[in-house]
Amino acid sequence: MSIQAQITGWGAYVPQRIVTNDDLSKIVDTNDEWIVSRTGISERHFASEEESTASLATEAALQALQVAGLNPVELDLVIVASSSPEHFFPATACLVQDRIGANKAGAYDLLAACSGFVFALDVAAQAIRSGSIRSAVVIGAETLTRFLDWTDRNTCVLFGDGAGAFVLQASDQPGGVLASAIHSDGSGGELLILPSPGSRHPMNIQALEARLQYVQMNGREVFRFATRALGQVVQESIAKAGLKLEDIQWIIPHQANMRILEAAAKNLKVPMDRFVINVDRYGNTSTASIPIAVVEAVQDGRIRPGDKVVFVGFGAGLTWGAVTAQWSGPLAPPRRHAPTPKLIRLLAGLRSGLLRLLRRLDAVVWGRMQNWGQKGPPGDDYLP
Ligand code: ACO
Repeated sequence: MSIQAQITGWGAYVPQRIVTNDDLSKIVDTNDEWIVSRTGISERHFASEEESTASLATEAALQALQVAGLNPVELDLVIVASSSPEHFFPATACLVQDRIGANKAGAYDLLAACSGFVFALDVAAQAIRSGSIRSAVVIGAETLTRFLDWTDRNTCVLFGDGAGAFVLQASDQPGGVLASAIHSDGSGGELLILPSPGSRHPMNIQALEARLQYVQMNGREVFRFATRALGQVVQESIAKAGLKLEDIQWIIPHQANMRILEAAAKNLKVPMDRFVINVDRYGNTSTASIPIAVVEAVQDGRIRPGDKVVFVGFGAGLTWGAVTAQWSGPLAPPRRHAPTPKLIRLLAGLRSGLLRLLRRLDAVVWGRMQNWGQKGPPGDDYLP
């Protein structure tokens, strides 16, 4: 029997603060009627000053691990897909790996913009099916509101913050991730771009004056691309799974914009009630939007074990991709004395603190303290 990659856990976290269209109309020249009619978005969540991409990702991952009944020390891989990572490096995934105490997991970030969650799901499932690993947590996490130009009404009304996560585990039961299709077209790179900081435009006064540190978008071209790409890649991934559109109970798309989803549904000739949609309440949370929508649909009973589902993403790059899966659930019944997310966070924090202390003591003993805490590149005490 071949190894399957089952989705055994799921979690989502959004910041508490809700920002409505009316709230936005106080800071930029827009209004609720325009935003709702052009995008379907009514409100979105904004991260607080204390929150960041890694903290949102950690919350979603801990929830997903709890649903799966999997101890973080058993995890083999942590992937964070993000368009708004904590830093350039270290990878946000490494910070999450530390905060959840996934001692033996490899961790890295994956950048495919709003398609990132689907791309990461594909790569994690392939690693499991190849036999190279037994488990992975795949996270989509964003604080994109930190990268928006609040004088640009074309973009700033679209995005929100949040995180979602799946746990994938090896199993000999049929189901889980059945097939995937991913694509890219770098010739459309400039259509949706966050130019600086980067190698092409390092952070300097010229870049800041040109406002290159903010998301820039050619909305019409992105719209055209998205409506075509979505339908095509859904069909492709379903066909690769040996299924037909009629076999699919739910399509869970990247929640970019209601009009994109309506156009794609029309192209596919699938009624809108087979799409899971929550863009009205969260805006576009980029890589986080698919898992947040899935978690809601599982919790309210729409997605049930046995259902065949398609996750489909599209975004900057340009990138687009879809994963067809058969929904299942945890491999084993819940453990009676499973550690709570709070306890895991505490133990992981203690372990991390101890490791930092030991590294520092080692530096004291061997006379390397002069490198620590100087101005310039910070020591690891810089990391929260
Ligand atoms: N409030 C009020 N008016 C606005 C706003 C706003 N927030 N934004 C733009 N307008 C104005 C424009 O200035 C323009 O005015 P003008 O005619 O006087 O120049 C008018 O509205 C029409 O602008 P368009 O850009 O033509 O509006 P359009 O109907 O194309 O809608 C939108 C814009 C919603 C951005 C649309 O192009 C779209 O949905 N694009 C896809 C965007 C998207 O989803 N991107 C992310 C997908 S990929 C990813 O998630 C990374």
